[in-house]
Amino acid sequence: MSVLEVKGVGYYYFSDKPVLRDICLSFEKGKFYAICGPSGCGKTTLLSLIGGLDEPKSGEILYEGQSIMEKGKGLAWHRRNNVAFVFQNYNLIEYMTPKENVLLTAKEDPMPILKSLGIGEEEARRNVLKLSGGQQQRVAIARALASHAPVILADEPTGNLDEDTAAEITQILKDNAHKQGRCVVVVTHSEAVANEADVVLKLDHGKIIEVS
Ligand SMILES: Nc1ncnc2c1ncn2[C@@H]1O[C@H](COP(=O)(O)OP(=O)(O)OP(=O)(O)O)[C@@H](O)[C@H]1O
Ligand SMILES: [Mg+2]
Repeated sequence: MSVLEVKGVGYYYFSDKPVLRDICLSFEKGKFYAICGPSGCGKTTLLSLIGGLDEPKSGEILYEGQSIMEKGKGLAWHRRNNVAFVFQNYNLIEYMTPKENVLLTAKEDPMPILKSLGIGEEEARRNVLKLSGGQQQRVAIARALASHAPVILADEPTGNLDEDTAAEITQILKDNAHKQGRCVVVVTHSEAVANEADVVLKLDHGKIIEVS
């Protein structure tokens, strides 16, 4: 059964400029998805809607068969309990250390997960702004993986990393889907990342043009 279903979703920022048109998709647990497409085609917008950061203008999104806008629970509940984000710009809490950032979502010791992403003891105690862009990105990924959210949504998670590190992080995300049974959705421009995905969704001008 699919964990997330996108049913006929449309979105615009300005009503005369549709950004997403009648998107229909379904996502399953245990799979690693890549959303690809040219800059400006609506990838980040789609990810934000799936994650409950905003409401679609038309259509609906279901989590475990129920609308994420359901009365009583609503989008905030969806964001808090069902999904974890890795944003294009990290969104780390800037006055905290990596350890503290991961502890925001972790229920256990954050060091093993930070170490698995290449952040050592000393770096884990530094202020996050004193880390390199790639290291900050790894902390953002550690924070998402440490949460117990069944769905991980990542926007260009390897955009700031060198090829080897990018491959390593892609493998960690993929393993997380396959071994922990999560649904991992990654927006990417990278062919190397898309090649690792179980399902590749191609978006162009707000429409899904290919699923492979
Ligand atoms: N907050 C906003 N207000 C108005 N227009 C926006 C806003 N955010 C995005 N857009 C527009 O919506 C369209 C889709 O943007 P989106 O960020 O989803 O693209 P994207 O596929 O993620 O691109 P990229 O690969 O460059 O990140 C673009 O034309 C963009 O200019
Ligand atoms: Mg984007």
